Amino acid sequence: MTITTEAELERLKAIGRICAIARDAMAAALKPGITTIELDNLGRSILDAHGARSAPEITYNFPGATCISVNEEIAHGIPGDRVIRAGDLVNIDVSAELDGVFADTGASFVVPDADARLVALCRDGKRAMWEGIRAVRTGAGLAEIGNAIGAFAKRNRYTLIENLASHGVGDSLHDEPGEISTWPDRRERRRITEGLVFTVEPFLSLGGRMADEKSEDDPWTLISKPAAPCVQYEHTIVATRRGAIVVTTAEQ
Ligand code: CO
Ligand code: CO
Repeated sequence: MTITTEAELERLKAIGRICAIARDAMAAALKPGITTIELDNLGRSILDAHGARSAPEITYNFPGATCISVNEEIAHGIPGDRVIRAGDLVNIDVSAELDGVFADTGASFVVPDADARLVALCRDGKRAMWEGIRAVRTGAGLAEIGNAIGAFAKRNRYTLIENLASHGVGDSLHDEPGEISTWPDRRERRRITEGLVFTVEPFLSLGGRMADEKSEDDPWTLISKPAAPCVQYEHTIVATRRGAIVVTTAEQ
């Protein structure tokens, strides 16, 4: 989607805010003993209360309103009877549609008492996302996003998952201009156009380099190869001459 009017921006901000409210409420409910389906039901109730619909459900028939990925799972985890335990690393990804407009956000959390390395990984995963968001500006290269994130990861001795990309969003969950690398990508030559709406969602890891299917019976859930802790932080943004407008925040 490319934003050309104030009304379009307001519609995008409205669904961005709803996704953020659901993400934050689910994060606040993340405690030992809760199951991932209970977390998902909370997310679903918030989307419902705002008249929004789950994007993975309506787009891909995903078996859940949100994606919840625990420990070895890094993305597209299916909500179910898995019980959250102290020390778990949990990713919550919420994407939804309202009035034909889609937004997408995600964040990782570690449940206390947490391993110090996982706490640092979460802190730095968020920093990696902001490094990417700060590279967004009308006229800049799309490659500058992955270059900024790659430099951050290298400087801090992390790895990046290099087959799970950011993407255009807005008119659909996965929209034009298609996939956008959050790692250094020498083949990327496209420029960022005014009003372009897309996600910035690096996957920072303590050794992981690729996402792979968890099992043949589960076509959704992705794990890290090689196996290693991994976090994802994701915002939906609009590119402008002055930088990125982040729309997936609760306070706007
Ligand atoms: Co997402
Ligand atoms: Co996304």
